Amino acid sequence: MLKLDSAKARPFLQAGWGELLGEAAMAERFLLEGTGPGADFLGWRDLPEQYDREEYERIKTAAERIRRDCDVLVVVGIGGSYLGARAVISALTPAFPLPGEKSPEIIFAGHQISSSYLGDLLAYIKDKRVCLNVISKSGTTTEPAIAFRLLKEALEEKLGRQETARRIYATTDKSRGALKKLAEQEGYESFVVPDDVGGRYSVLTAVGLLPIAAAGIDIDALMEGARAMRRQLLDNPGQNIACEYAALRNGLLRQGKTVEILANYEPGLHYLGEWWKQLYGESEGKDGKGIFPAAVDLTTDLHSMGQYIQDGSRILMESVIGVEQSARPLAIREQPGDSDGLNYLAGRDMDFVNESALQGTRLAHLDGGVPVSLIRLPRLDADHLGQLLYFFEYACGVSGYMLGVNPFDQPGVESYKKNMFALLGKPGFEAAGEELRKRL
Ligand code: PA5
Repeated sequence: MLKLDSAKARPFLQAGWGELLGEAAMAERFLLEGTGPGADFLGWRDLPEQYDREEYERIKTAAERIRRDCDVLVVVGIGGSYLGARAVISALTPAFPLPGEKSPEIIFAGHQISSSYLGDLLAYIKDKRVCLNVISKSGTTTEPAIAFRLLKEALEEKLGRQETARRIYATTDKSRGALKKLAEQEGYESFVVPDDVGGRYSVLTAVGLLPIAAAGIDIDALMEGARAMRRQLLDNPGQNIACEYAALRNGLLRQGKTVEILANYEPGLHYLGEWWKQLYGESEGKDGKGIFPAAVDLTTDLHSMGQYIQDGSRILMESVIGVEQSARPLAIREQPGDSDGLNYLAGRDMDFVNESALQGTRLAHLDGGVPVSLIRLPRLDADHLGQLLYFFEYACGVSGYMLGVNPFDQPGVESYKKNMFALLGKPGFEAAGEELRKRL
């Protein structure tokens, strides 16, 4: 099982550990009893046990069809509608797939508004067999809507409307929104984002599961991992690692540690960091409060951000994800002459070197005044990743309640949208557009 080791970070705390844990336990009760703000959005909490079995089987069947029929699956979505899938797929598929491992290639779109990106993508997929999975809970988000319009148009020009419709899978609200209407009109196979699951908590719904399964990842194992973590947390209310993590980070925040860095030592975990940033940033950053979530890829970023972490403004806490055994162990062998001076490592494998870097950096950062805790995964596989996802979601709910915010809304996300619509001239936003143009 995943383990959290906060022993070396706790001595930084000024408040009593028992008191902080007690606060976390009270916050956890809001989560368990559904008595805190945002309680309408607690569907994610029971997802590993309570999900639509019929839809789950359809996800597997659709994923098989995509794997058989397509060279490329373009997943169109933004925020919570793409980061979970991207995190899991990056973590569990080879960095350099061999031809047999590559099918289908999963490409993401609709997570920005870059014409160059989309233009390049349209050129890249032109002669390939393409499927689309368009994902939007609201069904009205501008970025994916524009990307989808252009991708669908390109497919329809090449294949006609009927064949294009066969290759499109829509994941959206069960009854509302422009995407739902379009899916019904065109006959796309559809999957549901449950009403009570917010975007950033939706990786274990069809939002994440369809692209993940299409990438050839074992979603049963992912769900089983989440289920095991859920059981562990619920069996130990107030005394579990989610309460420990929430207590630690809130205690440190109160002492001016306003930034948390999530560090990984596996490049495949880069997007896990992006997913985590959204989960914690959007859940906690409100009402003038919250820890700023940042992420680094190590040891890479030790050669860029390392100086600041070690020695810059002391506003940081750090959580390190350490994987004990990599999927492809590589031995370092003795070389005659030892011209590169590395023979002292002969007989060791790269995991040993990476682990030494992790432990050495951890101690250096602790010495530099950064409280570092360690999240340990025995292996990077679907089971342990399921544990990690559920752990972070649950801990985020506890932590948000401990902070005194609603961890399940995102009122701040609307402000940029209003301004963008006003400047684009969307009907209904004319007066706001005038105002904004004067200011520019
Ligand atoms: O977590 C969230 O709610 C957001 O990040 C959404 O996922 C994001 O804005 C995309 O929204 P939608 O799925 O409605 O297109």
